[in-house]
Amino acid sequence: MRTPLVAGNWKMNKTIAETRDLVFKMSLQLREINGVDKVLCPPFMSLMAASALLEGSGISLGAQNMHWEEKGAFTGEISPAMVKELCRYVILGHSERRAYFGETNEIVNRKLISAQTFDLTPIVCVGETLEQYESNRTREVVSAQTSQSLRDVSPAFASRIIVAYEPVWAIGTGKASNGIEANAVVKDIIRPALTELFGSETAQAIRVLYGGSVTASNAAEFFGQPDIDGALVGGASLKIDEFAAIAKAAA
Ligand code: PGA
Repeated sequence: MRTPLVAGNWKMNKTIAETRDLVFKMSLQLREINGVDKVLCPPFMSLMAASALLEGSGISLGAQNMHWEEKGAFTGEISPAMVKELCRYVILGHSERRAYFGETNEIVNRKLISAQTFDLTPIVCVGETLEQYESNRTREVVSAQTSQSLRDVSPAFASRIIVAYEPVWAIGTGKASNGIEANAVVKDIIRPALTELFGSETAQAIRVLYGGSVTASNAAEFFGQPDIDGALVGGASLKIDEFAAIAKAAA
């Protein structure tokens, strides 16, 4: 049995003051919901404030990105050792990182190996663009992203990895995929790639989330699918009632 997980990716939203307000109110609702792992991923600047408010709440923190090196001359970057002080999780290879900041599968893999070293639980994002989707290249793209981004880690660590299938055309567009189609990608493309990397037992243990325009009204459709273990939520994770309803649906 894979425990469901919902993660809120706040992206570049909310100041520290706004984070305090939102985390406080959200935690009051989320802490009542059991049977699902709950993760909030505010911007780096707000992690410290969020961490203080979430102590003892059973709600975890995640970073939205990190560098792979422990320290050094990398102006503007945040290291895994720094992330580890406040977070249990880290999102790696989000499509916005891939599209706007040139992150390749190789870079995502370096970060993943670093997450292993620093004992962080990674949420690794994969997903095809609209153009790739329309030209029937989903299998090729998602399979390569999975096998190249997730290689060279130990089987013990692999079982802790979380994969998020996020079709790029569904992110922030209000045009979510549907449960059956998303489940098919996970079952027929992502899990076989994981099986090839780690063997079937580990591949079955890895949690795979869906992401892309998840809302309180469509969440149950995805969570009802056998191969989808939760959601990586963007826009709706900034709304207290919406995100709490998604967490409830996952539980
Ligand atoms: P969205 O974003 O829920 O706003 O579509 C999802 C994501 O980018 O993780």
